[in-house]
Amino acid sequence: MASTNSTTNGPPNAQLPIAIDLDIDNITEHVINRCSQGRDPRMKFIFERLVTHIHDFARETRLSTDEWRAGLDWLEACGQICTENRKELITVSDILGLSTLVDEIDHPKPPGATQGSILGPFHSLEAEDKLNGDQISCDVNGEPLFVFCTVKDTHGNPIPGARIHVWEADSHGEYDIEKSDRAGPDGRGILRSNEQGEFYFNAITPVPYPILCDGPVGTFFEISGRHQYRPAHMHFMFEKEGFDKLITALYLRGSMYRDSDAVFGVKHSLVVDIHEMDSETATKYNLPHVNKILRYDFVLASDMEADALRDKHSAAVLKALGRDAVLVGHVPTTTS
Ligand SMILES: [Fe+2]
Repeated sequence: MASTNSTTNGPPNAQLPIAIDLDIDNITEHVINRCSQGRDPRMKFIFERLVTHIHDFARETRLSTDEWRAGLDWLEACGQICTENRKELITVSDILGLSTLVDEIDHPKPPGATQGSILGPFHSLEAEDKLNGDQISCDVNGEPLFVFCTVKDTHGNPIPGARIHVWEADSHGEYDIEKSDRAGPDGRGILRSNEQGEFYFNAITPVPYPILCDGPVGTFFEISGRHQYRPAHMHFMFEKEGFDKLITALYLRGSMYRDSDAVFGVKHSLVVDIHEMDSETATKYNLPHVNKILRYDFVLASDMEADALRDKHSAAVLKALGRDAVLVGHVPTTTS
């Protein structure tokens, strides 16, 4: 973790207690003290809580030396398999539910705003700009699907000019960046909402897919006895000045694994139906060969709405901890 005001190594701080003969009962306090010598109060708070929970985990599980080593070997393998397009550690966060938890914490939603879902490991900055009505998928084996959406604020006002990333797997459940022979971005694009807050594009009907299990994440699934499948879904990410970033996904009703998503991303409000294309829409958008349509109205929380909720939730955390701390930049921060 990087600190904005980190100190460099220097002479021992004479005010710190002597750190010798440490044991199960007193080591945590000493490590926290040692990690609290930097100048960034937020990082002091994070280190203190991190060391507290890691040490408690070891004590509570009565962690053996062999288990400790096996865990470190597994983390090392996760790092070694990572590449620019293989984000094993994001997947680790996803399968442990941490990604969903952090999104819920850092992107709270007021009533009426669209709920978030996980980013996942397959978002790519290589996506090309697309115009409304463009095709985002070159997969000729996929079932053609027209996606028509709106994006509004919590008062029902259209949001024009929002930047919207969309991405989906192909008809075999594979993303473009998983393929070594890919020619370029596919199954993804970046659109802009029009003056009415509308955006629309041609895609393919999503299908369920398994998370890659040929690495350490596969070992985890095997040991934990879980399945590794995600229900059929399409990813969306919204960016617009004055609004909190929304990372979410739409999930198909009736899809296998909808109620047991391997990465805990599904929410009832994000479950959608695909309908038969109506003749009026087919004519208006020149879609003679597209039989299916997906409609959804997204609602973005403003920055002010999200910040107010962050402050409220952070204050509740501090109260629960019984901590003498303050909120800085909407997050708990130590005072000393
Ligand atoms: Fe996905």
